[in-house]
Amino acid sequence: MQRPLSLYALCGSQRQVSTSRRLLEALQRVSSDGVSIEICDLIGSLPIFNPDHEGDRTPPVVETFAAKIRDADGLIVSCPEYAHGIPGGFKNALDWLVSRDEVPFKPLMFAHASYRGDLVLEQLTEVLKTMSLRIVSEAFLRVPLAGKSDEAQASVLAELQQSGALRAGLDRFAQAIRASV
Ligand SMILES: Cc1cc2nc3c(=O)[nH]c(=O)nc-3n(C[C@H](O)[C@H](O)[C@H](O)COP(=O)(O)O)c2cc1C
Repeated sequence: MQRPLSLYALCGSQRQVSTSRRLLEALQRVSSDGVSIEICDLIGSLPIFNPDHEGDRTPPVVETFAAKIRDADGLIVSCPEYAHGIPGGFKNALDWLVSRDEVPFKPLMFAHASYRGDLVLEQLTEVLKTMSLRIVSEAFLRVPLAGKSDEAQASVLAELQQSGALRAGLDRFAQAIRASV
C-alpha cells in the first residue's frame, strides 16, 4: 500500500468567491483516498512580516502556519496575478517562511486558475526556488476559471473532473513526492 500523503494548499487570493480557491476545492474533491488536502485559512490573519519578530518573538499565528507547512508532504499554490506581480498578502506569508527551516526541499505544485497571469507564475517560481522549494513542474495545472460566471466555472471544473485531468495533475504530484522519499 502506498504511503498516505497530506498536502497543504495555499491560496493567494482572499476573495470570498476566489477562482483560485475554487480550483483548490475542486482538487480536494478529486483527491484519492491516499491523498488529503487541507486549504490554508491563515494567510489573511498573518501580521506584516518583520524580521524583528522572528525567533522567540514569532507571533503564534505564524508558528501555527509554519507547523502546518512542516507537517505537509507537499504544498499546492494557487495564486492570482495582481499588477503583474504577487499579491502582497501572499508574498507576506512567504516572507515569514524565508529564514525558517520548514520549506527547503518541500515539493510544490502550481494550480493556476487563469489563462493569464504568466508573470505571477514566473515571479513565484523565482521566489520559491530562492527559498529552496522543489517545484514539481510536471504536475502544473492550468484551469481557466478567472473572469467566468459561476455556472461556467462549475462546467469547466465538472468537465475536467470527468475527464480525470484534475486527478491526473494530483497523481503526478503524489508520484513525484513518493519517488523522492
Ligand atoms: C488589484 C488587482 C490587480 C490585478 N492585476 C492583474 C494582472 O496584472 N494580470 C492579470 O492577468 N490579472 C490581474 N487581475 C485579475 C485577477 O488576476 C483575476 O481577477 C483573478 O481571477 C483573481 O483571482 P481570484 O479569483 O482567485 O481572486 C488583477 C485583479 C486585481 C483585483
